[in-house]
Amino acid sequence: MTSEEITEGKTRLAISPKVFFNPLMESNRSITVQLLNSFFKKPFTAIDALSGSGAKGVRIANETRASLVILNDMNPNSKKLMQKSVSLNKLKNTEITSEDANVLLSKHKFSTNFVDIDPFGSPAPFTDSAVRALLPKDAVLGLTATDTGALAGSFKNAARRRYGVRLEKTPFYNELGVRALAGFAVREAGKYDTGLSVLFAHATGHYYRVFLRTHRGKGAADAALKQVRLLLYCPKCGNMKYGRHDSCHGTMLSLGPVWSGKIYELNLFDELDTELPFFDLHRLYQRWGKKPEKFVEIEKKLGNAGYKTSRTHFSRYGIRCDASFKEFRKTLEV
Ligand SMILES: C[S@@+](CC[C@H](N)C(=O)[O-])C[C@H]1O[C@@H](n2cnc3c(N)ncnc32)[C@H](O)[C@@H]1O
Ligand SMILES: [Zn+2]
Repeated sequence: MTSEEITEGKTRLAISPKVFFNPLMESNRSITVQLLNSFFKKPFTAIDALSGSGAKGVRIANETRASLVILNDMNPNSKKLMQKSVSLNKLKNTEITSEDANVLLSKHKFSTNFVDIDPFGSPAPFTDSAVRALLPKDAVLGLTATDTGALAGSFKNAARRRYGVRLEKTPFYNELGVRALAGFAVREAGKYDTGLSVLFAHATGHYYRVFLRTHRGKGAADAALKQVRLLLYCPKCGNMKYGRHDSCHGTMLSLGPVWSGKIYELNLFDELDTELPFFDLHRLYQRWGKKPEKFVEIEKKLGNAGYKTSRTHFSRYGIRCDASFKEFRKTLEV
């Protein structure tokens, strides 16, 4: 098989038209390497269950403290290409397999420090076996979803089928998509008495990504599930909160259930970690019939009222704030 060579991060990669490789996923791979380097300070094992050309797994083997990375893809051409990349970087810490990802993961019961799931579309068909392959404590699961239409609330039936959630198009649809994906993973892990919390989550135009960490035991699983909740959102006034209806007299949509806990335990983008999704300033000022104020002015007002704020990568009109919707509105609307 003919191939050409490229460099990504500190790693040389063989690529070929016969095997999947998406240069636009470089951010996905680089953030993964960065996260693994901040989380695992000692040698760890990894499974890149859907490797494609092996770009992510080979980079993990070359750029982190991984002692063993299993590179796996069902496509037989993938194996040959990955062997080339492994030789290019003179790696001794990889094993290359061509199995169905669910079969492979099922053979590694509760034994792996990091599992990466990066499929075409939804990670839902692989999440159960990925959770089972993880060590029950302090292991990390990386899920990529490119079925953003489902998670963003555009394809409602697909969201229901794949993730068991109700979603609608909202101004903060991408954060909600990430939280829905995290909530789904928490429910999958609960079956095995494993709790999950979110280490880091992010969204880009064409994919959503969450990193979750395992916590051993029924108690941990119960505590994690308690944080998977319905988000109530009123499309009329923008009010949102977790829990039960009150002031909006039944006009609130109940979305999810979604993960309502922290999403930045490892805060790679330095954003405020709030329970509610970000507030969309553009929409809110429009609703209030007011001219939008400058971001710094808004931050100053909220700061003077005792709230913390930050910008968010999820939206350029978004502000993260630790106020409730009512408090937020009270501070800015008048
Ligand atoms: C999106 S690509 C992976 C990209 C890769 N992680 C990267 O960073 O370049 C998805 C891969 O999954 C493989 N695949 C699909 N279903 C599979 C399955 N059930 N078991 C193993 N591999 C599978 C495909 O052959 C494809 O190469
Ligand atoms: Zn309302």
